[in-house]
Amino acid sequence: MDRIYAERLGQVDLKQPAPQTEPERQYYFMAECRQYVQGLEQELGRRPTFFTQTFGCQMNARDSEKLSGILQAVGYAQAGSEEADFVIYNTCTVRENANNKVWGRLGYLNAYKKRHPHMKIALCGCMMQEPEVIERLRKSYPFVNLVFGTHNIYKFAELLSLSFKQKDTVFDIWKDTSQIVEDLPIERKYPFKSGVNIMFGCNNFCSYCIVPYVRGRERSRKPEDIIREIQRLAADGVAEVMLLGQNVNSYGKNLEPSITFAQLLQEVEKIEGISRIRFMTSHPKDLSDGLIAVMAKSAKICKHLHLPLQSGSSRILKEMNRRYDKEQYLSLVERIRQAVPDIALTTDIIVGFPGETEEDFQETLDVVRQVRYESAFTFIYSKRTGTPAAAMEGQVPEEAVKDRFDRLLKEVQRIASEKANALAGRKEPVLVEEVNAQDPRLVTGRLSNNYVVHFPGDAGMVGKIVDVKLEECRGFYFYGRHLCTHI
Ligand code: 5AD
Ligand code: SF4
Repeated sequence: MDRIYAERLGQVDLKQPAPQTEPERQYYFMAECRQYVQGLEQELGRRPTFFTQTFGCQMNARDSEKLSGILQAVGYAQAGSEEADFVIYNTCTVRENANNKVWGRLGYLNAYKKRHPHMKIALCGCMMQEPEVIERLRKSYPFVNLVFGTHNIYKFAELLSLSFKQKDTVFDIWKDTSQIVEDLPIERKYPFKSGVNIMFGCNNFCSYCIVPYVRGRERSRKPEDIIREIQRLAADGVAEVMLLGQNVNSYGKNLEPSITFAQLLQEVEKIEGISRIRFMTSHPKDLSDGLIAVMAKSAKICKHLHLPLQSGSSRILKEMNRRYDKEQYLSLVERIRQAVPDIALTTDIIVGFPGETEEDFQETLDVVRQVRYESAFTFIYSKRTGTPAAAMEGQVPEEAVKDRFDRLLKEVQRIASEKANALAGRKEPVLVEEVNAQDPRLVTGRLSNNYVVHFPGDAGMVGKIVDVKLEECRGFYFYGRHLCTHI
């Protein structure tokens, strides 16, 4: 655990009542939990273990690092599988199949818990913000110990402590919050790269999307808190940060004094030790020319932009409440490509939105062919209860959707492979991320444009940026050769 967090935890006096202010209150409950975990350790004759399973997006991945941070602070050791003493699922609900995965795995966990009755199971994240989910859990899943949502994740230590004392399941679900609590322990998955939340929630209400209902309204973190966090990360050896938000382009709108995302990026750029900056996700309607100019000038912002299209049909985009049309999207892409010529563009596309016709789908294919994405995430429309699209007429028959999905995927892959092949032979700086799991003589790293390359190397290179010649393209990734140390 980080020294700063350990010191804070060491100062807690459990003879006093719990403080009312945050984050002090959570450190108090961490100290309480620690006593429970120490007791469990004596009982088991070994250190108790935890396992965090993340579903969904990068925001959830970052949240899970916060959960892991607390679990380590209270004395659990990280386990490599769900066969652990404490298992927490950080759930996603953006599509129905994300929910189905959780229900399926809960059955398995129940069976394991029957054989290990001291085991604790917790659920949190987006899926827990849905009332039907909570109802089902209350009725049929009494073996779950703790359930909380997206707005009160900072209260994890307090809820954990309660769940250690209480026999029945602890439920704590909030509808919304305006609070952002800073300075809680975080356990990073990678030593050399890190996500950094810059804002929470979403105000856009795209008609298919459940996120605004489960993540609440937009709240930006103060720039000084973000900068301080990144400075600490840099001091701790982090070379690459990924600024995270559902819609980073509207960062700062609710702050006083207000600040734009482009201005924040310029501040992050100044931080010594940070070599690469990424961000996710950009809504096309809010991507300003100011941001394009900052990206064009920057030495650190990676040459990769994820720009969700969702549909190429202006009619469907209107129904989706995306607030841009096909032409505006294409013209935005042109401006970006002009300013940053070698930028890689990736996207999200939904097929089978209610009322989508073959003509609408052809418009999507047309945009895919014009933009020529380096890669695209393609999704089959999933009906989410409570969203406006769920009540729309003209749900598309499954067979037509499947057929469109297959055609789209083929086109996306054909173009992506052409784009990757065009890079073969180039020399590029690569951030080495890990020793290759399949072949330990190789290391795996990422180019600024987010392509992956495998090349001969050793564990000592992990976290460093090195120059690599891309020798062979294998569709979506490369094999290469290390040339010389870059920094
Ligand atoms: N059905 C299918 N895909 C969806 N997405 C969001 N909501 C839905 C839905 N109801 C996709 C969008 C978004 C990505 C994170 O998930 O493409 O950009
Ligand atoms: Fe969902 Fe649209 Fe918000 Fe993205 S911008 S989280 S798709 S509502």
